[in-house]
Amino acid sequence: MRMYDLIEEKKRGGALSDREIAYMIQGFTGGEIPDYQMAAMLMAIYFQGMNDDEITAMTMEMARSGDMADLSAIEGIKVDKHSTGGVGDKTTLIIGPIVAACGVKVAKMSGRGLGHTGGTIDKLESIPGFSTSIPREEFFDIVNRTGIAVVGQSGNMVPADKKLYALRDVTATVDSIPLIASSVMSKKLAAGSDGIVLDVKTGSGAFMKTLEDSIRLAQKMVVIGTGAGRKCCALITDMDVPLGYAIGNAMEVQESIEVLKGQGPDDLREVALELAANMLYMAEKGTIKECRAMAEAAIKDGSALKALIRMAEGQGGDASYIEDPEKLPRAAFSYEVKGDCRGTVTHMDTEAVGIASVMLGAGRSRKEDVIDPGAGILLKKKYSDQVEAGEVLAVLYASDEKLFQEAAEKLKEAYTIEQKTPAKKKLVYARVTKDGVERY
Ligand code: URA
Repeated sequence: MRMYDLIEEKKRGGALSDREIAYMIQGFTGGEIPDYQMAAMLMAIYFQGMNDDEITAMTMEMARSGDMADLSAIEGIKVDKHSTGGVGDKTTLIIGPIVAACGVKVAKMSGRGLGHTGGTIDKLESIPGFSTSIPREEFFDIVNRTGIAVVGQSGNMVPADKKLYALRDVTATVDSIPLIASSVMSKKLAAGSDGIVLDVKTGSGAFMKTLEDSIRLAQKMVVIGTGAGRKCCALITDMDVPLGYAIGNAMEVQESIEVLKGQGPDDLREVALELAANMLYMAEKGTIKECRAMAEAAIKDGSALKALIRMAEGQGGDASYIEDPEKLPRAAFSYEVKGDCRGTVTHMDTEAVGIASVMLGAGRSRKEDVIDPGAGILLKKKYSDQVEAGEVLAVLYASDEKLFQEAAEKLKEAYTIEQKTPAKKKLVYARVTKDGVERY
């Protein structure tokens, strides 16, 4: 078999067989197929797509490229959750503790920031002492003892995705349905949970910008998950506007704690509660309605906040930062971005907001960059808010004042302010299961 022939076949719109996909993924992971041939294949897939059989074969081959977790040492039903990536998307920090407080074990492997989107592991590491790199046995032990642990992907989990993602990132082939579906699902299948709730983001800050593309992506992932014998459903949630007001690692932890204390932004709480309800439902805790009430009660009675404290302590973090989040790191310098005219915010380019936060040090522009946990953006105005000329749209935080000018320009460009009333947006657009699409 020759990689050249497979590229030719895909370029002309043909379908690759299971054997060809196995050859391609094993060859690329093992270093026999060079980046330039794989890059050509990724672009061919980007334009020609893949059928369901191809996506499933590619996902399974990627999942098997490294260690597959066996979570049987953890008692009970294990339910995982994965977001396709967003700006200000800190829901795992809220949902994990809620679900654990309701008696479902959370053994979660999360990722770091990717492009303009943030990652749970970077956020958790802004809590002093918090370790996200824990040997497998200790990870199982923490989950059995405390009900929850969130760690990074261990060294040899899904190496095919690590290599492919790095290549996609620099070849403009990230926003492809078969490539995202196989990337996300290979990791979820290798992570070993019984059930998977997917949070598929849609809008200007998501990789999928339209609702129809997001639904298509969700359907593919649900087909793969159920085909692999897992329970799987997806919620399509809004990412046309950043979630909450905080974008940046430590400030996102702080905002999540506010929600767990019964305060915090309504949009963030609502999306987190809906996802938590779906995870509890998957763990057979009741009807969705009962599970939603259970999730709300876990916030109200303080048990979810206690679960976050248990998780921090279990992973070596200093829990006093959760009890008093004002202590969390905050960059030394701040800068107010002001609007020029009076009107209403009718659109936010949420990807641009994410890029501005990366420019301040909250994310990485190059692989080797070190995250500044205290850097980021606190939004003061969001979609549909009224703005007076000269009013503050957002406050930027950075450890180096030189970073402000470029980031402020980017952020300002992200706001469209007009003299009209924008339409009300939904937070959850649809729920996708193996039985179909339920639109809200
Ligand atoms: N998240 C992933 O894990 N992979 C993608 O391709 C996109 C988002």
